[in-house]
Amino acid sequence: MNTQPPNQCSAWHALGALAARPDSPPIADLFARDPARKDRFSVAAAGVRYDFSRQRIDRAVLDALLELARQRGFDEWRAAFLRGDPINSTEKRAVQHVAQRAGDAAPAGVKAALARMRELAARVRAGGRIRRIVHLGTGGSSLGPKLVVDALGVRDTAIEFRFAANVDPLDLERALAGAEPDSTLFIVVSKTFTTEETLANARAAKRWLGARDPAKHFIAITGNAAAANAFGATDVLPIPETVGGRYSVWSAAGFGALCAIGADAFDELLAGAREIDLHFAQAGAARNAPALMALVGVWNVNFLGATGHAILPYAHALKLLPAYLQQLEMESNGKRIDREGRAIDYATAPLLFGEEGTVGQHSFYQLLHQGTPAVAADFIVAGQMHGDAERCALLGAYAEAQADALAFGTTDAGIEPYRACPGNRASSTLALERIDARNLGRLLALYEHKVFTQGVIWNVNSFDQWGVELGKQLARQILSRRNP
Ligand code: F6P
Repeated sequence: MNTQPPNQCSAWHALGALAARPDSPPIADLFARDPARKDRFSVAAAGVRYDFSRQRIDRAVLDALLELARQRGFDEWRAAFLRGDPINSTEKRAVQHVAQRAGDAAPAGVKAALARMRELAARVRAGGRIRRIVHLGTGGSSLGPKLVVDALGVRDTAIEFRFAANVDPLDLERALAGAEPDSTLFIVVSKTFTTEETLANARAAKRWLGARDPAKHFIAITGNAAAANAFGATDVLPIPETVGGRYSVWSAAGFGALCAIGADAFDELLAGAREIDLHFAQAGAARNAPALMALVGVWNVNFLGATGHAILPYAHALKLLPAYLQQLEMESNGKRIDREGRAIDYATAPLLFGEEGTVGQHSFYQLLHQGTPAVAADFIVAGQMHGDAERCALLGAYAEAQADALAFGTTDAGIEPYRACPGNRASSTLALERIDARNLGRLLALYEHKVFTQGVIWNVNSFDQWGVELGKQLARQILSRRNP
């Protein structure tokens, strides 16, 4: 397997030379020269269209990026990942989130866990005792399920769903507002069952329940069943060791989401991701949507100096997507040491942020259009939106207008400098047919495989997160000093 630094590849140097061309064509010229550009610089993956025609990429750049993927051993790394090799080298683990959504091809343990999730969800609903479900967990043990529930909505409104991730007592207090202990169920999600914030919230929940039997009010989702049992939970669903937190929404960590959206919709979510897995496994890099998303990102970060990446979903249902992708991308590839333990001297994951459109337009888009940092953007749009035609049309028009404004800027030569938008600012558009469980599964899997591919290019292990440990240790020391 290739673990050489990417900047030793000849393709890396070719890309450097292309970026430095004095006559680098601006995006507007690229469109003017090629009327078929939109089609030529778009690919379809399982019903999702990835359009990167508004990137600062011509044929020569694209060819060099594809050559970089080849030189970095993309095909071999992809095969090793999908085969279940232990590519998470620092934790000596395979990476098996794809197996969680493999349907008929899934390992027996995955099928059994899914069957238990369905059975337990039916039990939670039976009898109508439970009126409030509070999901306790943080990071990957919260962001995915919360996004899914927020995006797809609660199927049966007889049960209210809330999430508490922050150890700030206000979070749980608000999640419990109006709840009755007898009719409240806590789903505690923690792969390790050692995350202090989650455990502190779980202990607070237990105190709130008073003398009630914790076995009737807690379901634990964890890879550490012994600790969950010791806490008092007897219903325990597993998170496999080989499924990282930020990749775990497909596993039992998504149990709360399954309860909320219904088991059939959860199956659709998995099926959508599975379609993208198939596409990712089979398509050559030149037509492979996640691989292209990754390569476009590498071009922007490493060759055009884009230190920011904005996620701009033009759909209120996807308003939590930026938060989800923040963890997925920055915890996975925010790395400074490569797979051989060497210090890295090239940029890795950019700062990722975002906001739903059109709300973000009235907040940070000023910087996108006229600011000094280079920020690349992903617009996420859906063909069919729910609601009245007037507002849906406005939403769609704004998404296109913003992408065009970034790409082409102002064209009036006599305009005052402070009004001028320079344009030539890169963005891509991901177009879904509609926001539903299947398309959400597709979208999240696209980004997962993008992140994997960037890890291959940057020669980092995308599946560990050692950088978060020091803060945890220091907090423990500070606490023990304050309460000896
Ligand atoms: O601190 C970071 C982290 O380890 C994430 O990677 C993870 O998603 C989150 O904490 C929660 O961890 P756990 O599921 O073990 O509680």
